[in-house]
Amino acid sequence: MADPGFPKTGSVLELGSGAGDVALLFAERGYRAHGIEISPTAVEWACEKAEGRKLKAEFVVGDVTDLGHWDDETFNVVIDGHCLHCIIGEDRGKVLSETHRVLKPGGLFYVNTMCGEPEEPEVAKAFDPESRCMVVGGVARRYFGRVEDILSEIKASGFRIERQEVRSNQGMQDDLFVWAVK
Ligand SMILES: C[S@@+](CC[C@H](N)C(=O)[O-])C[C@H]1O[C@@H](n2cnc3c(N)ncnc32)[C@H](O)[C@@H]1O
Repeated sequence: MADPGFPKTGSVLELGSGAGDVALLFAERGYRAHGIEISPTAVEWACEKAEGRKLKAEFVVGDVTDLGHWDDETFNVVIDGHCLHCIIGEDRGKVLSETHRVLKPGGLFYVNTMCGEPEEPEVAKAFDPESRCMVVGGVARRYFGRVEDILSEIKASGFRIERQEVRSNQGMQDDLFVWAVK
């Protein structure tokens, strides 16, 4: 938000908005803030927080593979709320094309996703190098894509990559930040 290139007004959608803290930060700064989250309990908490802080924000229970709640070209910014790495396989393309659809032309998709080789021992133990997923109980839970693969899939959905940055977290997974423009 503090970056000089970041839109200073407009509408923001957070993918995987959890308990609403990030979206509410945007609401506090005067943006029209929206969130979509698969957990009804988290959405309830987000709505309670918004009400308690007298902030206007919309939180919707839903799956980020289907943003049909919103029309084409609705948002100035879509933020990946550390959610994209929860999306596995073909669903990733659905999220990216839905995100592209709901962004206004020139809109920003800000991605914050885990990437590379998992370092945390528990995660590394559950890592399947073929699918690049952390698999628990036979179910793929997190995707640790290679940076070049993540950038390729974002580009394949019609975005132009404006900027990217990998930040390493000691003993944890690296985070990839991407500024992608429609
Ligand atoms: C790491 S949490 C981040 C929460 C919030 N963005 C934050 O920064 O505090 C990721 C969130 O994505 C949500 N999520 C995972 N898969 C989802 C899906 N397919 N559709 C919507 N939300 C999803 C999870 O329930 C979780 O709340």
